[in-house]
Amino acid sequence: MEADPKVPINYHTLEAEVIAELRTRDRFAPIEERQDTGVLALDVISSISHGKYQTFWRGVSLMKDPLDQTILQQLLWELKPRTVIEFGAYKGGSALWIADMLKLFGCQSRVVSIDIDLSLLDAEARKSSDVEFIQGDSFQVEKVLSSTFLENLHHPWLMMEDAHVNLVGVLEYLDKFTEPGDYICVEDTNPLAPGAGQGLVKKRGYKAYGPSKMNDLRKFLTGRSDRYLVDQKYTDFFGYNATWNMNGYLKRV
Ligand SMILES: C[S@@+](CC[C@H](N)C(=O)[O-])C[C@H]1O[C@@H](n2cnc3c(N)ncnc32)[C@H](O)[C@@H]1O
Repeated sequence: MEADPKVPINYHTLEAEVIAELRTRDRFAPIEERQDTGVLALDVISSISHGKYQTFWRGVSLMKDPLDQTILQQLLWELKPRTVIEFGAYKGGSALWIADMLKLFGCQSRVVSIDIDLSLLDAEARKSSDVEFIQGDSFQVEKVLSSTFLENLHHPWLMMEDAHVNLVGVLEYLDKFTEPGDYICVEDTNPLAPGAGQGLVKKRGYKAYGPSKMNDLRKFLTGRSDRYLVDQKYTDFFGYNATWNMNGYLKRV
């Protein structure tokens, strides 16, 4: 049945409906209760990816799809992290955007972004005094982020993994330093997201990333539900796992 265009939309009702629906289920779930599937079809992901790879923040490439950029903005406001640690700076757009958002929100946060090759950084990101870029290898995470360095960082943390290497090693190392209330965002776990350097258009040979990152995340999380739960508010913000970061918004409990 179609709505009567003459009757004005009641936005309070729409908002109340969504909030009431959210109240009917648990917000946090162990990975064992989650499926590695999502409502976004491959065609939708490949189409949105066109926009993702032409998204800029202050002229700097920002590799976030619009769904996760919105989800992250909600999370930043709710969490107000004192520390953000990003693995995979690339041009620095993501770290710059996060630092700008937190400043706008009045947070006193320290934003640290790591990449194996800081020559990739855009000049705009390089000149920002709100982000500390560190050159380092995720395979040597304990050298890049020493225990003394980590022990002195204020909590809550938001840790973002977007380098796509040594995920289990990175998470196992940082686990020792996390505290209840911290968040981890593991990016691009959706098996249908495009693999790096692959075509975005199916007929030109779209190749999906595949399940390897999601499998690694599951490997880390399995048996750790006393420490990490999936925050379904964020993974399912736009529908079940309607995110590039499938089951990838985690709360340390
Ligand atoms: C997808 S990009 C990051 C995009 C960025 N976070 C954004 O949203 O705009 C991945 C980055 O990970 C970096 N990377 C690859 N291997 C790495 C490693 N072993 N250690 C640290 N960084 C690595 C690459 O140099 C690349 O810049």
